[in-house]
Amino acid sequence: MADDLSIISGTKEEQYQALIPQIKGLLEGETDLTANLANVAAALKEQFKWWWIGFYLVRNDELVLGPFQGPVACTRIRKGRGVCGTSWSEARTLIVPDVEKFPGHIACSSLSRSEIVVPLIHDNIVWGVLDADSEHLSHYDETDKVFLEQIVGLLKP
Ligand code: SME
Repeated sequence: MADDLSIISGTKEEQYQALIPQIKGLLEGETDLTANLANVAAALKEQFKWWWIGFYLVRNDELVLGPFQGPVACTRIRKGRGVCGTSWSEARTLIVPDVEKFPGHIACSSLSRSEIVVPLIHDNIVWGVLDADSEHLSHYDETDKVFLEQIVGLLKP
């Protein structure tokens, strides 16, 4: 059984630094992908209270909705479409300070204002993406990119 997450206040860096060892603990000894993605989404939601946080996984050349926390979301995204599909096709993290200014942004929720999408990469192949959405503009920055890339690096397909 997982212990309760210890939620801390402080700078964004301090919050990630406290969270990452706890995420490592949650993943340790568990090989089931759904269980691990679900706990990572829940841990990020509990610590940061983002509007939406979750995963899309590559399935037959589309992204399909995976474990997430937040309101219901679009289930399928084509390669190169929206922020998620672009992060997949370009195999890089995208920080979008204002979703209305991102051409082709897919609005799963009208309340989402800014977004970060981090690709999950194994053997140079993107196998999914982590997507975080905020109801505030310019919510995500390089700090989120650095730490979220560390977190997704802990996940194996
Ligand atoms: N906004 C994303 C779609 C996924 S939802 O935000 C959960 C995009 O443009 O790819």
